[in-house]
Amino acid sequence: MNKITIAIDGYSSCGKSTLAKTLAMSIDYSYVDTGAMYRCVTLYALENGIIKNDQVDKESLVGQLDDISISFQHSEQSKESDAYLNGVNVEETIRGMDISNHVSQISIIKEVREKMVAMQQKMGKEKGVIMEGRDIGTVVFPDAELKVFMTASIEVRVKRRYDEMQAKGLHVSVDDVKENVLSRDYEDTHRKHSPLVQADDAVVLDNSDLSEEDQLNFMLKLVEQRT
Ligand code: DC
Repeated sequence: MNKITIAIDGYSSCGKSTLAKTLAMSIDYSYVDTGAMYRCVTLYALENGIIKNDQVDKESLVGQLDDISISFQHSEQSKESDAYLNGVNVEETIRGMDISNHVSQISIIKEVREKMVAMQQKMGKEKGVIMEGRDIGTVVFPDAELKVFMTASIEVRVKRRYDEMQAKGLHVSVDDVKENVLSRDYEDTHRKHSPLVQADDAVVLDNSDLSEEDQLNFMLKLVEQRT
C-alpha cells in the first residue's frame, strides 16, 4: 500500500496526540508531535533567561535558534517517542503548566516557526508520517493526502487535559487548565503567522462524544480511501 502524509490539526487538548499515536501504531507510520517542538523552544527560553518576568527577548532567542537541537527518541519504558532538547530527555518537563503558559509567546515568533516548519518538512519528507499540530495541513504539508481538523467541546477538552495532568502527578486546578486552554485557542487562531485555520480540504472530526476506538476506525476508513 502506498504510504501517504497525514496531517492532523486542531485546538489544544482535542486528543490529537492520542489519536495520532494509536493510528501510527496501527498502520505502522511514524508520528510527530509538533507541539512538543514549540514546547522545547519555550523550555530553552525559560532555562536560558530569554523569558524574564513573562517577557520574551525575541532578538536573543532568534540569535540562539541554531543552538537549539530538538529530536524524538523511542522510549523503551513508555513505548512512545520522547522529546529531547539538546540531548536531554524533556518529555515530562515540557508538559507542565509553566511551559503551557508561555508557549504561545514563543509560537507567534516568525523565525521560530520557520525553523520548526523546516525541521518538520525534513522529518516527513519520506511520507508514511502522521504529523499533528496547528499548521500542518496549511503550511507544513499543504499537499498532504489526508488532512483532518479535530475539535471537541471546551468542557471535554478541559477534562482531558486536567485528567492527563493529574495522571502525571502535575497538580493544577480545573479553572487554571480552562483558562490556559481558552487563551491558547485565542492565541493560536489570532496570531499573524500561520494561525490555526481549517484547511479547505480537511475532514472535520468532532470527537466530543466519540470513543478512542470510534476515532481510530474513522481514521482507518479515511486512510483506506486515500491510499
Ligand atoms: O499541541 P500542544 O498543545 O502541545 O502545542 C503547544 C503549543 O504550540 C500550542 O499552544 C500552539 C503551538 N503550536 C503551534 O503553534 N504550531 C504547531 N504546529 C503546534 C503547536
